[in-house]
Amino acid sequence: MSPEKLDARYWDDRYSDGDAPWDIGSASTPLASYLDGLTDKNLRILIPGAGRAYEAEHAHRLGFTHVFPMDFTLAPLEALMERCPDFPRAHLLVGDFFAHDERYDVILEQTFFCALDPSLRGKYVQHMHKLLKPGGKLVGVLFDSVPNPVGPPFGGTVDEYRSLFEPLFPGVSFERCYNSIAPRAGRELWLKATKPTAYEPIDCNFYDHFEAAATLKETVRFGLRDGSEREGIIVDLFVREHIEWMRLKDGSEIRLDEVIDLRRPKGT
Ligand SMILES: C[S@@+](CC[C@H](N)C(=O)[O-])C[C@H]1O[C@@H](n2cnc3c(N)ncnc32)[C@H](O)[C@@H]1O
Repeated sequence: MSPEKLDARYWDDRYSDGDAPWDIGSASTPLASYLDGLTDKNLRILIPGAGRAYEAEHAHRLGFTHVFPMDFTLAPLEALMERCPDFPRAHLLVGDFFAHDERYDVILEQTFFCALDPSLRGKYVQHMHKLLKPGGKLVGVLFDSVPNPVGPPFGGTVDEYRSLFEPLFPGVSFERCYNSIAPRAGRELWLKATKPTAYEPIDCNFYDHFEAAATLKETVRFGLRDGSEREGIIVDLFVREHIEWMRLKDGSEIRLDEVIDLRRPKGT
């Protein structure tokens, strides 16, 4: 199917024909638990291709005040208003994602990427990058499946996703979801893509610790700016486009200015 065929009318017809097999009737569990873990209720959150917008409802009920579900067509968003009449109507965005121009802290992906014609995937990544504030995150689920030309949904693999996202979202990760709903178990990847902030060169003394750990090839633990922790063995320190990075033994790469502390795990 060509991108033009998957237009607002196509999706509107599917909703009015009651042909919406993607609709799981509640917030997708990986996204719901991600939202449960966020503490800043003022984050600006965009949910493109939101459909009946269960994730927007979940966020709203958790107390998030700047949630913007977007869809080509109003009908599914009206279903949100029926379930949740106090959701701010002014936050419903009806229109084409690719024409939208605002800035967000978080964008949630849930069966929107796989609904787009695959020829639009590069444009999707570029537009997500544009809509995020520096340091903002695109998170959500992508299907891990053999690419199928007949969709939607259109499949994809980690290798394809990595080559699409890595240039604009270095360090992007695709981890197997552990909390998918039963029919999707084993088929979902948790996407986490952070828009880089301007690089802040790290202090020389701090750099010495990275060098020592890389030389000793010992396991170290890092506290990261986003509050998460990582553990690994540094195998390389390098500069790419004026940004200092380390590469871990598992192949992942971390910007040095994302690290706020580095230590040896207890007992090593
Ligand atoms: C497969 S459905 C997923 C809906 C919802 N995320 C869910 O999981 O129930 C894809 C949705 O994306 C919307 N959509 C497709 N292309 C779009 C575009 N270019 N701009 C905005 N919405 C779009 C469709 O109208 C549809 O509601």
